[in-house]
Amino acid sequence: MHKFDVEEAKETGFYVSGTSGSGKTTLAKHLVKDLILNGCTVIVLDASRAWSTNSPINNTVTLNTPLQNNPTRYPVVNTVFDMTKLAIAERFTFCDKLCEATMQSRINAPNPKKLDWLFLVFEEAQLYLSNGCMRSLHKYGNVLNVISNGRNFNVRFGIITQFPANVDKAPVKITQQRYFGLTTEKNDLTYIKSFFNTKQEAEQVRNLEKLEFMYQYRGKTEKIKTYYFGDAPKKYELTGYQIELPTYIL
Ligand SMILES: Nc1ncnc2c1ncn2[C@@H]1O[C@H](COP(=O)(O)OP(=O)(O)OP(=O)(O)O)[C@@H](O)[C@H]1O
Ligand SMILES: [Mg+2]
Repeated sequence: MHKFDVEEAKETGFYVSGTSGSGKTTLAKHLVKDLILNGCTVIVLDASRAWSTNSPINNTVTLNTPLQNNPTRYPVVNTVFDMTKLAIAERFTFCDKLCEATMQSRINAPNPKKLDWLFLVFEEAQLYLSNGCMRSLHKYGNVLNVISNGRNFNVRFGIITQFPANVDKAPVKITQQRYFGLTTEKNDLTYIKSFFNTKQEAEQVRNLEKLEFMYQYRGKTEKIKTYYFGDAPKKYELTGYQIELPTYIL
């Protein structure tokens, strides 16, 4: 079983891509659980409701309108923001304001490097970090501030997308742990290829099974398989007992 490097994630974030149903959210739930067990606080922007059940985070806030949901009013605890009721533009606005509020609160803290690490996990990241966003600071400035400067204030990010070619490459390049799931679309494959050392490695993403990923860690690549969140990993099945770990810490 591969080991997600939490310390590396604090420095450089993480990235998960793959077509619909490839297992991105399942994998990300395991990563988020690891982060929480290691003392990080995690906020997930979710437009699928998949994070509201069988989840490492048991606190879901359903957003009804962006105006009544000022991000500065939420305490900083592990939270899933359920965005399903928001229009796409409203999701963007909420994310923008959340990034702004997060960075402001950290910048104003007396000693931000002493604060717990805070992860913002962007499901459907192509919406918030779309291709070319680096050239449009007016629109994307707050989320880019999280990406570019967050580390100095103990804020890091997770990028999850089913449309890799629509996500700007710059934020992805920052991440040193990348998980590429099944992808067959031509433009996405071209995009993905640029992140692999060899053509052979890149080609493998066309033939992955559900829950399988090409895991890139500091430039090295291995094929891994995750398991449904809540299921015991295979290697524990023979021991006859379960190791109980807290699934969340508030
Ligand atoms: N606990 C579970 N038991 C059985 N099947 C599951 C479980 N969790 C997820 N699945 C199935 O596994 C597949 C992968 O699910 P997952 O939500 O991780 O995919 P995804 O890549 O995030 O998809 P999407 O892009 O649609 O969000 C889906 O077919 C889903 O229905
Ligand atoms: Mg998903």
